[in-house]
Amino acid sequence: MPATTFSIEIERCKQSRIHEVDFEHLVFGKEMSDHMLVADFKDGTWQSIRIVPYQPLVLNPAVSGLHYGQAIFEGMKAYRLQNGKIAIFRIKDHWERMNLSARRLCMAEIPEEIFVEGMKQLVALDKAWVPKQEGSALYIRPLMFATDIYIGMKPSDSYRFIIFTCPAPPYYSGAVHTKVITQYVRACPLGVGYIKMAGNYAPTLLIAKQIRAEGFHVALWLDAKERKYIEEFSTMNAFFRIDDTVITPPASKTILNGVTRRSVIQLLKDEGIKVEERPISIDEIIEAHKKGRLREAFGTGTAASVSPVARIHYEGIDIYLPEEQEYIPMLREKLDAIRYGKVSDPYGWLTIVDA
Ligand SMILES: Cc1ncc(COP(=O)(O)O)c(C=O)c1O
Repeated sequence: MPATTFSIEIERCKQSRIHEVDFEHLVFGKEMSDHMLVADFKDGTWQSIRIVPYQPLVLNPAVSGLHYGQAIFEGMKAYRLQNGKIAIFRIKDHWERMNLSARRLCMAEIPEEIFVEGMKQLVALDKAWVPKQEGSALYIRPLMFATDIYIGMKPSDSYRFIIFTCPAPPYYSGAVHTKVITQYVRACPLGVGYIKMAGNYAPTLLIAKQIRAEGFHVALWLDAKERKYIEEFSTMNAFFRIDDTVITPPASKTILNGVTRRSVIQLLKDEGIKVEERPISIDEIIEAHKKGRLREAFGTGTAASVSPVARIHYEGIDIYLPEEQEYIPMLREKLDAIRYGKVSDPYGWLTIVDA
């Protein structure tokens, strides 16, 4: 879309709902901020880009996104910096991943301007909603779905793109207990596990429900072919420290290449810590644990940040990770120092919204 035609209409809400929110006791994903951005793709172009009061959608039941799964999303965060400004973390990386998802599902791509400028304006408008508490942030949810009113299998010609936000506490409050899943797989080779489509999440809900009843917080997935190699958690990428080397499964077609994953790899390397992006089997983890060489395990994600793993359960075996950690607190501290503007932004990860 040419820059000259880009404009966003803004309709402010009559009365903010912010006073209804208890920022001291935030619940993840429950309280939406005052406004949302909406744009429609029709006749081959993005149009009527608008910021409006957060409100329900009116949808025709035949919109194809509700039936055949042309539905994608992103999850990202804006932080309140030490100097009072608000910054969005790695906005362009999320925009690129959204379009990777869009291309794979034959959906219209979002122009950078709408994603970046639209999001900046939305977050600036609702900046009072960015929590002040350390560890909390404004969670940003961009999503897109097909809106053709047509019951038939074909790529939709029309789409709706929305961004809304919600103040969010850390996703996991402490170290997580995880169960390695052997009776189901999340993604298969040459499939779509690497994109952030709605359809990758619904099938994991049953397993999440089952393992929660057994006292676990999150599933740890194995590869579909051999059911031997670690893929990722349901909500995070997986990292294991064996001796002083950090190992994480390689980016592939079967895992989501997390933005936090990439940030953590960068920080580790810059600390002079050896990082191996390679297949790691559950047997290797059990072996390393037996020899006392498995020193830390953690998950990374926008919602979860860097979450330590306390226990890995695999086919009747329990692996308890050592309580003392070194790399996990270091990574959290370094990442938070950048996100909350306590240090300069050496990698250019922050986009200031109210400059
Ligand atoms: C399946 C899955 N893996 C990994 C991640 C972590 O990705 P990111 O660091 O980009 O949030 C997420 C969260 O978005 C996820 O849903």
